[in-house]
Amino acid sequence: MTDAVATLDRPSTAASPGLLQGAVRAAFDPVNRTIATAYRRLYQGANYRMRTLAGGRLRSACRPVSIALLLTERCNARCVHCNIWQNKGKEDSPGLEHWKTCLTDLAAWLGPVQVTLTGGEALLQPFTPELVEHGVAAGLAIELLTHGFWADPARLEKAALADPWRITMSLDGIGETHSLVRGRPNFWERSLASLQMLRRLRTEHRLHTIIRLKTVLMAQNIHSAGEVARFARENDFEVFYQPIDKNYNSAEDSRWFETAPTWPNDPEAAVAAVNELIRLKHDGYPIANSVAQLEAMIPYFRNPAALQAAVQGQAAHEQQPICSALTTLQIQANGDVGMCHLKPAVGNIKHGNIRKIWADRPRFWETGCCQSGGGPTFG
Ligand SMILES: C[S@@+](CC[C@H](N)C(=O)[O-])C[C@H]1O[C@@H](n2cnc3c(N)ncnc32)[C@H](O)[C@@H]1O
Ligand code: SF4
Repeated sequence: MTDAVATLDRPSTAASPGLLQGAVRAAFDPVNRTIATAYRRLYQGANYRMRTLAGGRLRSACRPVSIALLLTERCNARCVHCNIWQNKGKEDSPGLEHWKTCLTDLAAWLGPVQVTLTGGEALLQPFTPELVEHGVAAGLAIELLTHGFWADPARLEKAALADPWRITMSLDGIGETHSLVRGRPNFWERSLASLQMLRRLRTEHRLHTIIRLKTVLMAQNIHSAGEVARFARENDFEVFYQPIDKNYNSAEDSRWFETAPTWPNDPEAAVAAVNELIRLKHDGYPIANSVAQLEAMIPYFRNPAALQAAVQGQAAHEQQPICSALTTLQIQANGDVGMCHLKPAVGNIKHGNIRKIWADRPRFWETGCCQSGGGPTFG
């Protein structure tokens, strides 16, 4: 797909086999993309259904749906809602070749599923653009998650030109609000420049990448949450909202919201903000959350203690609590493979094949789980 676009865009004076192949591939691209999208829907639906089907008897056969590779746990931002930037020292990264093998194995095992490359800040790794290219070539729906705070946009540009399925950029407000949340001067200006570049590249190179903004609703931006949806609409982006959680990479604290400066202390102001987002969605603004996901934020902002386990698993809109380890695969920056943030790693991609690690994983849902108060969840 990427090669096809690149080949057709490049000026050429003579027909060549490469050009012809590129044109043929490009002609079939829309069909391939439609098939891949249908596959992902079916794949996700089937695996989510298996979690509860037949009283949960099929749940051990679930395959991963939410797949994230944390390419580094270092970061050059200073966000108020995340402590990952406080990580210091050298990392024991698997390196480009192990990450490539992991993507190749995921594609061969699961088909054209979604895989998110994130961190920390993924683009601090010099090899990230090459990994994006590799994942796209393997047929995966690669999502790159970045903060977009780059004085030199070369890595983001290279990653974008690989034409990944989606580039998601965090944007927690418009103007100074965003810089305030992200803790560094000029954050808004650089993020905006990155977004303008992404939009320009998408047009000039006829890329298919979805550009998504990701906004965490918190005390600092709750009064202006709708501004991001308006900005998204004006610029042909989409936006996904997420409610604030305990600072990432901070110590366990079940009452964190009582002291956190990010928690909106006026619950009704937060509810009003969410209701505005629901109205904007009904009015056609490009808000990617379902109405059910938005509605589930209302009881959370009113009573965080009751709902925080579900929000941490990002499944507060589900009717029944479900163990997130059934369909979650998260690979840390050192290669450790995890399924639940409360459980230890179950393997490492430096030493084992990802499919085998998944097959051999402990059945957390049978032995005790936060969603079920310590006992088996279903069945
Ligand atoms: C950990 S960051 C990694 C990617 C990249 N550094 C970025 O900020 O986009 C992934 C996402 O988690 C969100 N996040 C961080 N801390 C959070 C918290 N306490 N509650 C909810 N979301 C949070 C960020 O805003 C970001 O959208
Ligand atoms: S949210 Fe992203 S940008 Fe902010 S500190 Fe965490 S990892 Fe870094």
